[in-house]
Amino acid sequence: MIKEKLSNVKHKIGIYSAKGGVGKTTVSVNLAYTLSAMGYKVGILDADIDCPNLSFFLGISERMDTSKFPLIPLVKDGIKVASTSMLVDDMKKPIIWRGAIITKMLLDFFQNTDWGDLDYLIVDLPPGTSDAPLTIMQLLTLDGFVLVTTPQKIAAANAFRSGAMAKRLNIYLIGVVENRSHGTESEYTRGLIHDLGTRLLGSIKESAEFDRLSDLGIVPVTREKAISDEYIAVAKYLVGD
Ligand SMILES: Nc1ncnc2c1ncn2[C@@H]1O[C@H](COP(=O)(O)OP(=O)(O)OP(=O)(O)O)[C@@H](O)[C@H]1O
Ligand SMILES: [Mg+2]
Repeated sequence: MIKEKLSNVKHKIGIYSAKGGVGKTTVSVNLAYTLSAMGYKVGILDADIDCPNLSFFLGISERMDTSKFPLIPLVKDGIKVASTSMLVDDMKKPIIWRGAIITKMLLDFFQNTDWGDLDYLIVDLPPGTSDAPLTIMQLLTLDGFVLVTTPQKIAAANAFRSGAMAKRLNIYLIGVVENRSHGTESEYTRGLIHDLGTRLLGSIKESAEFDRLSDLGIVPVTREKAISDEYIAVAKYLVGD
């Protein structure tokens, strides 16, 4: 059923790192907007059900219509978006679910959401290397994933574990994005790329604009040319331009 619901999606790309807070959601959203500006039909699936942040980054407070099936993603700026946070009434309540329930919930959500025609579905994955990200990678049969890291040694070490884990599931590693970059990629990011036998898709510099604009629900690539240029470079690599 999931295959059927995603049958008109040409490419499903995961954005992943086991380490929390490195910028998975930021990269998902800004990359999706960049691909959309390049003319592709794009969707974003928030697959982080513990802390579903997509609505926050997009400034969305609407809910998906749960009275009809299949569920239809919301549309923001021409991009289809769906998150479990768009199904629940009170986002302030903590979401505490055990593994089996998480799997059931994700399965239900994926099986019942109809994405229609898309060139790219960007899947914002949760951190960790256990139940939730593993289940999602397997259920969605991703075409590949982008690994997000930051310049620090600890980020590269955790990114290596993430990359190795996903590769073990035979999910293609498209490449690495160094986020919160100081400019040229760090020696640890270079080591990570070498050890995983992959490539650097691009670097996104540290910028206070990310917090400022995201807190307002504004997607930074739509306002800041310097940030937009960095994301265009990553997107071009992704689409093979
Ligand atoms: N290049 C950047 N420069 C400055 N701040 C950034 C940059 N990228 C992301 N941030 C900020 O870092 C914080 C964490 O980003 P984000 O939520 O995207 O990380 P995440 O990996 O999705 O986290 P989680 O693991 O909790 O899902 C946010 O406040 C975001 O605005
Ligand atoms: Mg996130």
